[in-house]
Amino acid sequence: MDSPQADVKTTRLADYTPPDFLVDHVELDVDLRDGQTRVTSTMQFRLNPENTREGGSDLILDGECLALESLAINGEPVAENRYRYEKDKLTIESVPETFSLTSVVRIEPEKNTALDGLYRSNGMYCTQCEAEGFRRITFFPDRPDVLARFTTTVRADKKRYPLLLSNGNPVEQGEEGDRHWVTWEDPFPKPCYLFALVAGDLACLEDSYTTGSGRQVSLRLYAEHRDLDKLDHAMLSLKNAMRWDEDTYGREYDLDIYMIVAVSHFNMGAMENKGLNIFNTSCVLAHPSTTTDAGFQRVESVVAHEYFHNWSGNRVTCRDWFQLSLKEGFTVFRDQQFSADMNSAAVQRVENVDFLVNHQFPEDQGPMAHPVRPAEYQKIDNFYTLTIYEKGAEIVRMQYHLLGPEDFRRATDLYFDRFDGQAVTCDDFVACMEEISGRDLTQFKRWYSQAGTPVLTVTDRLENDRYLLTFRQHTPPTPGQAEKQPLMIPVRLALLDETGEPLPLDVQGNREKVIILDREEQTFSVDAAGPVTPSLLRGFSAPVVLDYAFDHDQLSRLLAHDSDGYCRWSAAQRLYFSALDRLVKGEGAAAAEAQALVPVLEQVIGRADEDPAQAALLLSLPGEVALGDRHAPWILASSMLPTMP
Ligand code: SER
Ligand code: ZN
Repeated sequence: MDSPQADVKTTRLADYTPPDFLVDHVELDVDLRDGQTRVTSTMQFRLNPENTREGGSDLILDGECLALESLAINGEPVAENRYRYEKDKLTIESVPETFSLTSVVRIEPEKNTALDGLYRSNGMYCTQCEAEGFRRITFFPDRPDVLARFTTTVRADKKRYPLLLSNGNPVEQGEEGDRHWVTWEDPFPKPCYLFALVAGDLACLEDSYTTGSGRQVSLRLYAEHRDLDKLDHAMLSLKNAMRWDEDTYGREYDLDIYMIVAVSHFNMGAMENKGLNIFNTSCVLAHPSTTTDAGFQRVESVVAHEYFHNWSGNRVTCRDWFQLSLKEGFTVFRDQQFSADMNSAAVQRVENVDFLVNHQFPEDQGPMAHPVRPAEYQKIDNFYTLTIYEKGAEIVRMQYHLLGPEDFRRATDLYFDRFDGQAVTCDDFVACMEEISGRDLTQFKRWYSQAGTPVLTVTDRLENDRYLLTFRQHTPPTPGQAEKQPLMIPVRLALLDETGEPLPLDVQGNREKVIILDREEQTFSVDAAGPVTPSLLRGFSAPVVLDYAFDHDQLSRLLAHDSDGYCRWSAAQRLYFSALDRLVKGEGAAAAEAQALVPVLEQVIGRADEDPAQAALLLSLPGEVALGDRHAPWILASSMLPTMP
C-alpha cells in the first residue's frame, strides 16, 4: 500500500561503495538569462580503478529539476534509446572506460525558492550546493568522493550583473554586446558541493595578504553597496585567521584570491565554497554603532570557521555524508581554538561549554539523539545538527587532550599531508592520531558511533593519608541504542589543598594530569594529608555530565584559587544557584546569602587583573534561562546543589 513514507529512501553507511566513474575535469558554461538560464557542462569521465562492482558500465548521474536539451559522448549525440532521465537520475547505457560527456540543460533559478542549487536573491544570482544542491545545476555524480577540477564560465547582462564570480582564479574575460563573461579556473580538485557562482552588482572591500611563504593573496569582501562600511571587521578577522592557521597548523592559503560574498537570503550561516565563501549577512556585517561585542565575535568566528575549511573540508574532504563531522567537528574545534587565542581563552571556553550543555546535551538526551557519525539517514539536510558540529568538536578536543598539543599537531600534519586531495573518513583521522601517539584508540572511536551524554559520577574519600577518587561512567539509553558500552574519557584534573594550592599528582611533581577512564568504574589515588578539593574536568575535557557533591567550601576554594577558568566558572554557577535557590525557598535572608559570598567574590575581584573578561564572567549571576533549565536532566540539577557547611 502506498503511504507518504513510500518514497523515503534510507541511505546506510554500511552500504557505501566507491563511485563507478571518476571525473577528472569539468568545464561549465553558465549562461544566465532571466527565465532561460542554460548550463553546458563537459565532463571527462574515467572508470574508477577501485570499482569492484560486477556488471556493465552504465553511467548514472544525479539531476533534479533539469530540462535536458542535449547529450553527447566524445562530441557525438547520444541516441535517445541509450539514456533515460527519471526519478532524478540520468542513466546512460554502456559507456566506454574513458570519455567526455557534454550535456546542455535549462534551469530556472528565478523560481528556485528552496535556496538550494542556483537561485536568485535580491536581484543577484548565487548558489548553495552543500549537501546535494549541485544536481539542480547540471547532471553530475553528486557525492563528495568524486573530486574534479572545475573551469567555469559565467555569462550575464553587463549592466545588471557587472560582477561574475566562481571558484578559483579568474583567467579570461570578454564582452559580447550588452553581455559579458568571465572564466574561472580552480586548480584544486574538489567535490561539487564546494562549487559556487555569484552574479550581481555588489560593492567590494579589497585588501591583500602575504602568506608565510611570500605569496600575495587578494582578499575581496562583497556586499550590497549600502553595507560597504560594515565589512572591516570581517576583513580583519580573515587576515587574523589566515595568519593563525599558518602559525598553529602550518596551513597556508593556496589560491591567488579569497572572496566572501554577503547574501541576505541564505539557508545556512555561511558556506566554505573553494575560494568563494557565501555568507548570510548576519555572519559577516558588523559596525560599531549597531553591533554588540557578541556580534563582533560571531563574525570573527564564522569568518575563521569558513576559512579554516579550506584545509579541513576542502583540501581534505569527506568520503560520504556520514563523515560530515570529519570536517565540521574538526573545523568547529579549530575556530574555537582561534577565538580562544584572539579573546579571553577562559571566557571562550565557558561560552562554548555553556552552549554545548544547554543545546547539544538536550538533543543528545531526547528523541533526536543520534551518533556523531550516524549509521543511516533519510535526508542528509536533517543532519546539520549540534551533535555533528558541537559534540564533534568535543571529540576532536578529547583527542587533543589525549595526545597533548605537540603530538596533536604532528598528527594533524600527517592527516593533511597524507590525505591532501582525497575524500576520507573519521577513521582515517583517528588513525593519524593513533600512528603518532602509538595509542590504540579503538575504544575511543565509540564516541563517533554511540549517541547520548555519559554521566560521570565521582565520589571521594581520605584513607590513611591517601585521597581516593572513584569515577563511574554510565550512558543512558537513546532511541535505537538500548545498551551502551564504556567510553574512553579523558579527565583533566588537579587537586587543591586547604589553602587552594595544587597538590603534586605524581613522582615528577606534576600539578595537573589527564586521567584516561575506559571502564565503568575506576579509582585514582594520591598522597594527601588533609581535605582535598578536586578540580575536575578542567577545561571541560570531555562532554559528560559531572555528578560530584561539591560542598560550599570546596566551591569557594575553586572560585578563589583554581587556575582553570572553566572550573572556576562552574564553581561560581553552583554557588549562585544554591544561594538563589535558598532565597526562592525562603530558607535564607538576602543579606546573609550575599555575606556568605563576599569573601570569595573579593578574591575574584582581587584576581581580576589576570583576565578582566573572565572576572566579569565570574561575577555574573546565572540568567533566567539557566535558572529555569537547571532542573532539566541534562544539567543534573541535584548535583549542582552544594551541601552547605
Ligand atoms: N558547511 C557549512 C559550514 O559549516 C554549512 O553549515 O560552514
Ligand atoms: Zn563548517
